[in-house]
Amino acid sequence: MAYHPLEQLINLHDGYCRPFQVAGHALLLVQDEGRPYVLVNRCPHMDARMDRAQVMDNHIRCPVHGIAFNLVTGVAQGPLAHCLKQLEKLPHAFEGTTIGVDL
Ligand code: FES
Repeated sequence: MAYHPLEQLINLHDGYCRPFQVAGHALLLVQDEGRPYVLVNRCPHMDARMDRAQVMDNHIRCPVHGIAFNLVTGVAQGPLAHCLKQLEKLPHAFEGTTIGVDL
């Protein structure tokens, strides 16, 4: 397992949302309410990339069909919540002045 830096900490801010390709994995680094999350960049609805997702109020909203997923629980909001998979998240790590993932 190796640490892969994604971003300088100083560049993170609420609403941050940026895709990364790391060791063959499509990832999305987002931040909301001061908390960063590393997500698999694949919407649980129809596997769309969420590069242009909206991040706010503890949720990420997929740009394709607009379903919002809770960043903490990974669960979808609304009537589809019971039939969709949860967001896939990876634990993030810090090294020096960067945030990244161990893969
Ligand atoms: S593909 Fe994301 S909401 Fe449909």
